[in-house]
Amino acid sequence: MIPGEVITIDGPAGSGKSTISRALARMLGFLYLDTGAMYRSVALAAKRYGVGKNDREGLSTLCKCIPLSFGTSRLPPVILLGGEDISAAIRSPEMDLLSSDISAVPEVREAMRDLQRKIAQGRDVVAEGRDMATVVFPSARHKFFLTATPEMRAQRRYAERLSRGESTDRDTVVRQLVQRDRQDETRQIAPLRPAREALIIDTTSMTINEVLDEITSKLRDKGLEILRAAAK
Ligand code: DC
Repeated sequence: MIPGEVITIDGPAGSGKSTISRALARMLGFLYLDTGAMYRSVALAAKRYGVGKNDREGLSTLCKCIPLSFGTSRLPPVILLGGEDISAAIRSPEMDLLSSDISAVPEVREAMRDLQRKIAQGRDVVAEGRDMATVVFPSARHKFFLTATPEMRAQRRYAERLSRGESTDRDTVVRQLVQRDRQDETRQIAPLRPAREALIIDTTSMTINEVLDEITSKLRDKGLEILRAAAK
């Protein structure tokens, strides 16, 4: 049983969930829990410490021992491995795929699930990921699943990469996105899928504000007090 208000936002890559989750957390003054960043950090640590993506025992030990710290006071949160800020390093195309690979390992999922629940304990949280509503916070009162066409999601990812000054081509971005989706949707444990009670929002032709409006109006309908107060 986890006290505090939990809003879950799940969905595939490029569905807009990070932008929306951050904006919502900022608007409500909730903690933003970026669980994708956690899997990415484990992936980066595995690479640095030479632990293979199929080495379940090694990954399990890594999850217990790595000196990771997830900041909760800034948006986007700062992530430290040892004393090093790895917030940018975890966003490379290599970590896109490696994080997806290691996220299929049961020991890694178990460790992340426990850590996510521990961080959220007693707090109001916007939790973003793939299995927030289905596995980690199944009793959350507010569940959203964002989606968009593969073309639009790839286009967003491509634009994001260009804006970071990375040289890439659109076909590579599309291929990697499709591969990652397939992996995340077909893995044995906690595959990417909407919870039965989640509101599915197709963001393909919506602006950020339109998505936020839809979510906040749902939250208001369901009696999220903080929004009721803000609307007065
Ligand atoms: O949201 P993201 O792209 O930063 O996530 C990176 C990978 O981490 C994603 O391909 C699958 C995995 N992931 C997961 O399995 N469960 C989560 N709750 C969040 C991310």
